[in-house]
Amino acid sequence: MAYTAMKEFLQDELDGIRDSGLYKNEKIIRTPQGAEVDTSSGHEIIMCANNYLGLADSAEIEDAVADGLKTHGFGMASVRFICGTQDIHKELEEKITAWFGTDATILYSSCFDANTGLFETLLGPEDTIISDALNHASIIDGVRLCKATRKVYKHNNMNDLEEKLKESRDSRFRMIATDGVFSMQGDEADLVNICDLADKYDALVMVDDSHATGFLGPTGRGTPEKQGVLERIDVITSTMGKALGGASGGFTTGKQEIVDILRQRSRPYLFSNTIAPPVVVGTTKALEIIQTRPALRETLHENTRHFRNQMNELGFNIIAGDHPIVPIMIGDEKKNVALANAVNAQGVFVVAFSFPVVPRGEARIRVQMSAAHSRDQLDYAISVFKQAGEEQGII
Ligand SMILES: Cc1ncc(COP(=O)(O)O)c(C=O)c1O
Repeated sequence: MAYTAMKEFLQDELDGIRDSGLYKNEKIIRTPQGAEVDTSSGHEIIMCANNYLGLADSAEIEDAVADGLKTHGFGMASVRFICGTQDIHKELEEKITAWFGTDATILYSSCFDANTGLFETLLGPEDTIISDALNHASIIDGVRLCKATRKVYKHNNMNDLEEKLKESRDSRFRMIATDGVFSMQGDEADLVNICDLADKYDALVMVDDSHATGFLGPTGRGTPEKQGVLERIDVITSTMGKALGGASGGFTTGKQEIVDILRQRSRPYLFSNTIAPPVVVGTTKALEIIQTRPALRETLHENTRHFRNQMNELGFNIIAGDHPIVPIMIGDEKKNVALANAVNAQGVFVVAFSFPVVPRGEARIRVQMSAAHSRDQLDYAISVFKQAGEEQGII
């Protein structure tokens, strides 16, 4: 009986989502994630994956995973502290620590978990978290779970951040929390000024670098490395689900005591299985590739430069920057969907983003570059955007 009322309510909600054009349909891919995929709509160049370094279908990683499957099995059937820790989990943690030059690292089954398990473990009612307005949902949820006072500063606005730091002078601990790169914009947090303000007001700095780990900075250690502040960041969280092979998993790296207490008290770590053995082995291989093959990063950045230059020349409105996230700003929701549909119809797989993922009136197509894209694939996609953009009066 109870479900009859709920069913009606849910049907209304779903109709509302459909009517406002916000219903998310999942396109089925039948091949490995790569520069080109076979989908339910045909053969397509994929331009919306977080496969920044093109490692998602790497043969080397697949071989390592096949070996790892034989030596370490498929699953652990346990959380880490009972009987879910293998030598490969410790090795991956140590390799990440050595790469970042931090004290210690803890793995999670996702970066979402790393973020939701962070704040409530470290901070309490006497403390304040000061969070960028455009932070990822997992930071927002992590902050919600924590009893610390929450303050949100305007996106990348250092004056507002300073205001919030002044307002929270009486807190025991303060933590500034920011994405390294913001996923819908492709812009970077102003980490140099954030670190300066953190020093001035005695605050800790936490960076979620999911959209930068592996490819930003001279050795791929992300936004803090690119901006020369790696050693000034207290806590970094990131994902294995994007540049590091794209499978799944996350980690938190930073100060020894922070990682030690997370291992004792962080709820997603204590009460949920960690990364499965084959994924640990595959991610370890991905890390090795990233550390030894800078050419992958160079190809990614070269692809980004080419695509951004060409699209700018055509007259598309693109948020400026040099990140492989290339947001093509359309504004109107319906025009945005029409452009995405026209581009998709020509075999270029892109997604239209609109409210509530981005503010109303700021609809956009978020194109993402990969080192796996060839120049021909990029040029084809550019020509498709040109034709569709002209036909629809966007350029
Ligand atoms: C900034 C940011 N943080 C965290 C996540 C979540 O990562 P995961 O897929 O590892 O949970 C994402 C993924 O979209 C992200 O973009």
